[in-house]
Amino acid sequence: MAEVENELAEIRKALHHHNHLYYVEARAQISDREFDQLLGQLEALEAAHPELITPDSPTQRVGGAPIEGFSSVTHRVPMASLANSYNKDEILEFDKRVQKLIDGKAYNYVVEPKIDGVALSLRYEDGKLAVAVTRGDGHSGDDITSNIRTIRSIPMVLESETPPAVIELRGEVYMSRDGFQALNDRRREDGRDAFANPRNACAGSLKLLDPRSVAERPLDAVFYGVGELEGIELLTHEELLNTVKAFGFRTHPVHWLVPDMPAVLDKLDELEKRKHDFPFEIDGAVVKVNQRNVYEDLGRTAKSPRWAIAYKYEPEQAETVLQDITIQVGRTGVLTPVAELDPVLISGSTVSRATLHNEDEIRRKDIRIGDHVLIEKAGEIIPAVVRVMNEKRTGSEKTFTMPTTCPECGTPVIKREGEVAVRCPNDACPPQLKNAIIHFARRSAMDIEGLGETLVHMLVDHGLVKDPSDLYTLDRAVVAGLERMGEKSAEKLMQGLEVSKQADLWRIIHGLGIPHIGQRSSQILEEHFATLEDLAGASVEHLESLPDVGPIVAESIKEYFASPEKKALVKRLEDRGVNLARKQAADPPVDDAASQVFSGMTFVVTGTLSAYKRDEVANLVRQHGGKTSGSVSAKTNCLLAGENAGSKLAKARSLGVRVISEREFGDLLRGTLEP
Ligand code: IVH
Repeated sequence: MAEVENELAEIRKALHHHNHLYYVEARAQISDREFDQLLGQLEALEAAHPELITPDSPTQRVGGAPIEGFSSVTHRVPMASLANSYNKDEILEFDKRVQKLIDGKAYNYVVEPKIDGVALSLRYEDGKLAVAVTRGDGHSGDDITSNIRTIRSIPMVLESETPPAVIELRGEVYMSRDGFQALNDRRREDGRDAFANPRNACAGSLKLLDPRSVAERPLDAVFYGVGELEGIELLTHEELLNTVKAFGFRTHPVHWLVPDMPAVLDKLDELEKRKHDFPFEIDGAVVKVNQRNVYEDLGRTAKSPRWAIAYKYEPEQAETVLQDITIQVGRTGVLTPVAELDPVLISGSTVSRATLHNEDEIRRKDIRIGDHVLIEKAGEIIPAVVRVMNEKRTGSEKTFTMPTTCPECGTPVIKREGEVAVRCPNDACPPQLKNAIIHFARRSAMDIEGLGETLVHMLVDHGLVKDPSDLYTLDRAVVAGLERMGEKSAEKLMQGLEVSKQADLWRIIHGLGIPHIGQRSSQILEEHFATLEDLAGASVEHLESLPDVGPIVAESIKEYFASPEKKALVKRLEDRGVNLARKQAADPPVDDAASQVFSGMTFVVTGTLSAYKRDEVANLVRQHGGKTSGSVSAKTNCLLAGENAGSKLAKARSLGVRVISEREFGDLLRGTLEP
């Protein structure tokens, strides 16, 4: 056995080493093929000796099974934030304070980039990754270890023969601009919402419960700080950065050690000039005192230490000419005015359009066609017009008025009372129809495999689909004949459509696109209505009496189902085989009312359930002698956790409350699992 263990250790070490060369240093020494061969060898050995698989093995990066929720971990050293500054005077004041507080001791500064990502703490014990935690509220965060393992540039074991007993590394997970772009392109193609900016995409990715999905996200991380240390001393920030790098982590691509304030200010400018050279978004610079042994003397405010300060760059602005104002028609029929600009370079990309939001905004800023305008691109990806350069007006600029008919279909537009938005009321208007179909098919609605955005555009443009129900009459041969399609894609779509006919009731409720009804409200509605017909027939009073349903939502549902066109659509969906009723629990437990298996027990239910309805669980618990409660406490006996469980699950874990799945709940009822 010792021989096998040695061999495993050798291969793992080699793989860690080559992984580091490839992902961190970008200078591979072996080919991908050789790497895969080594990995294959390891997999084979581990398959033969599964008891020897360790969590830090290179085979474990993407293999993790989905989890039900994140547990909460307390930071032994809190994760502080940085004080922000927006001009150089504030940096000079920061230096004065430093000088005063450290009382004549010598010091210098490190200037480094401030990356716009998500803060992370990694704890290594005896050189091995023990846990990865988000910042959370600074005192405790979520355990996201299995997600972090998927980031290839993060070593699972420190590159050191003599690792410290404990080292916590603090850094930032980020998504490169290119990775972000590619991810969003893929999402649009799948009919899903694009992320607004790389930071959001990154935060969203880290919250995913399935590490295999996280592995598909283009995440990376840099490290710039430490938390708890045991068995290692780091005297300066410079030494910290060098050590972090030597341990195998990515650090910032640049940093400068500088002697005084003039040099600091100089580097702040240099970094700002170079900020587009980095493959990721930088929203400022960080100035840190280099001597770590004075950090104690410098102390901290409630939120941040006094040894560092962030210098935030102004969002970039540029001047250009607004050549025209065009109209974009959205999913809900809202007409949005868009500024067509002379192309201009801003924040590293060429901008030729900017949103003007609505007519009121155009009036308020007095934007006219032909104006010189100042545009800005902040953290978000969509640029906006900040103001008009009035001094450059020539008098030939033209004021803009919203069209009275929809530019796409010619239908007269409407303006609802109390709303600023102007809408096209025609559901069959192509952009609305396309968006409605994309929404219908999306993952959080009918989840139709094989129906991406491009295909929806083709289906609508060819007149094959005039409402969602037409999807179910599509002819395989016709679909296969469409541009860039083929037998295989057509077959995939047909199968996807067939599967979607049996989707849960809430999916169709969400998929219909009733204004103000999101995924969560659809699920709540399913809990209270057994069929779409019941929902359609419900009174406003009944709807309003439901939890989380207010007058706006109730009115919106009523209005939707009052429309003869919508009634006809629902009828067509039904005729074409789409399920419009709540399904029974997948595996109905034996209804043995005499059994008192849950006697004296308190249950809490959290997350999205798929086999049971919530009220059904409550009834079953009651029937079998137990109680349900809305919140987890030390008195809770059991937490039934469905998909996407969050804070209740974390709390249950921290209190040591038993957590069960829906299947286990069924087993408890059937008596095949001990309560
Ligand atoms: S040092 C105690 N250095 O910015 C100080 N933070 O706005 C710890 N950040 O929470 C932070 N780049 O998530 C530091 N070079 C850098 C950074 C950096 C980005 C993030 C970090 C922090 C936030 C504060």
